[in-house]
Amino acid sequence: MYRLNSSAQLMIVSDLDYTMVDHDDPENLALLKFNALWEAYYRHDSLLVFSTGRSPTIYKQLRKEKPILTPDITVLSVGTEIMYGESMVQDHEWEQYLDKKWNRNIVTEETAKFPELTLQPETEQRPHKVSFYVEKVQASKIMKALTECLEKRGLDVKITYSGSIALDVLPKGAGKGQALSYLLKKFQYYGKPPANTLVCGDSGNDAELFSVPDVYGVMQVSNAQEELLQWHAENAGSNPNIIRASERCAAGIVQAIGNFGLGPNISPRDISDLPASKEQTFNPGLEVVKFYLFYERWKRAEVQKSELSLQKLRSVFYPPGIFIHPSGFEQHLNQYIDGLGASYGNKQGTNFRVWLDRVSLAQIGVDAWLVKFDKWELSGDTRERCLTTVLLSSKVEVPDGFRWMHVHQTWLDGSGKREQISE
Ligand code: GLC
Ligand code: MG
Repeated sequence: MYRLNSSAQLMIVSDLDYTMVDHDDPENLALLKFNALWEAYYRHDSLLVFSTGRSPTIYKQLRKEKPILTPDITVLSVGTEIMYGESMVQDHEWEQYLDKKWNRNIVTEETAKFPELTLQPETEQRPHKVSFYVEKVQASKIMKALTECLEKRGLDVKITYSGSIALDVLPKGAGKGQALSYLLKKFQYYGKPPANTLVCGDSGNDAELFSVPDVYGVMQVSNAQEELLQWHAENAGSNPNIIRASERCAAGIVQAIGNFGLGPNISPRDISDLPASKEQTFNPGLEVVKFYLFYERWKRAEVQKSELSLQKLRSVFYPPGIFIHPSGFEQHLNQYIDGLGASYGNKQGTNFRVWLDRVSLAQIGVDAWLVKFDKWELSGDTRERCLTTVLLSSKVEVPDGFRWMHVHQTWLDGSGKREQISE
């Protein structure tokens, strides 16, 4: 929450399954496009919030399966758990607040009287969330009866229905919308309300995100669930700040950024070659994203093999600068580029992908920038993460207006077994 010194330019609050993540796209193309856009243009002054029905256990599983970025805030278990930062520090105050008129044992006791309800796996049962599966035809009748039952026992609950299958019983004050309102109040209190907030979702538990005042919203309509569309028709049909995307999942989020004019909406992945023209202001985040995109395309043989592009890289990499490979091996940047030249097409026809996460920028002099990020590489079934630090100089006398002076990589997540350099 406190990573930024001032108000976020944009705060994206997005659901994961079938909103940020398209489970029907094994290549994750839309997600990778979003990632490149976010790290190049937004990470340094904006906030990414994931708001999911998943418990911490299966959220962490998803992070291993899909190339999702590290969010600034994670709202889990349908707005009942809020966690901050990379280390996921729990908001205990929020959970204490949810204790009001809530008693898990009573919920378990009363729900046991409904044979139509099938309990979800143990991981999805959380302190302030009791979850079931129930058929669509039964859902609304059961939700009504259950609410009455629990009210009689002195509880104040909220019941959500998502994906035409999942029924969650939560404290009344919980839910994705309430959790977002709580976060917005907190930002207000610290004098850092986001300039714009965009909420994104596709199913029933997302509906209340769209009722939070003063937010823009996008419903992943081409793949949205019936219950959300119905909610929209009844409650928000005339609100111009809520749109229905024609694109699927993460592509719909990018579409909404463009639609509402919230900032850059062309992902570097949608630009076919390293653009020759210099941007007006030097953006170190964009430079690193662009380089690793070129690196991916070069190895996949998706850019033309030409001496010209290597020459261009040579002019961008300060020849006597140093590249420290995660194995500890050092070489000059010109040797690194020679090695890259030789690796053209060595991942052709494979699932090889590269993406950056957690790009952070520090200007350390008038023309010097320290850029730090995680560089992820997917190849076959293996994912590798390298903590990377790059020293960039933005001296104008070089043709592109900037230069890579020094690169240092370290393997993370125990992926440091490779002894040899790969390019
Ligand atoms: C996620 C959770 C599940 C919940 C559903 C809808 O799938 O794992 O427990 O019921 O979201 O909120
Ligand atoms: Mg979803």
